[in-house]
Amino acid sequence: MGDNIQSVFEYHDLIEAIVAAEEMRDPHTSYHSERVSNMTQEVCQRLKLPENETQLYHIAADLHDIGKIGIRDAVLLKEGPLDDAEWREMQSHALIGSYILSKVERFDLIADIVRHHHERWDGGGYPDGLTEEDIPFGARIIAVCDSIDAMLSDRSYRRALSWEVCQREIEKNIGKMYDVRVATVVLQNWDAVVDKRKLPPYSTRLR
Ligand SMILES: [Fe+2]
Ligand SMILES: [Fe+2]
Repeated sequence: MGDNIQSVFEYHDLIEAIVAAEEMRDPHTSYHSERVSNMTQEVCQRLKLPENETQLYHIAADLHDIGKIGIRDAVLLKEGPLDDAEWREMQSHALIGSYILSKVERFDLIADIVRHHHERWDGGGYPDGLTEEDIPFGARIIAVCDSIDAMLSDRSYRRALSWEVCQREIEKNIGKMYDVRVATVVLQNWDAVVDKRKLPPYSTRLR
């Protein structure tokens, strides 16, 4: 972990503003990034990671879906299932995100994490089909938190899943989708991690 971590965290509020701009595009996912980021922070602490690494993953979690800013409305906002071409376009958000962040030299580690946040432990993810420890550790943490937030959120085509069903999904996919150590720590600290989805009522919130 380089010395540039602290200087990255200096831009936290600017990063949150950029993320808010992206989320304006898709009201259904408002505050998703903030919830994933808060859960990621909690998981890092439960994993007893050093503070600079925790901050790095926190920032990466804030930015993980920033590439959705480059997805057309017809795909991003489509109600109902995506066809194959639309699905490929949606998946490109991981590449677009890392491309955007590659403009900032000191964000190189963050760009790498963002690129790989949809990889799976078993190699079945995208964009590169990386396996196991070839996937950046921060991306493996974000992948679990991202899945939890998606499952616990209402979608146009389904209601939010219960905590129990969500927990079982995570458990079932240990060593398939998720890093064993990360997912195990999440399950062991479930209430504390999931509780981090609750956001404080900021006066600036629009919705
Ligand atoms: Fe994503
Ligand atoms: Fe996400």
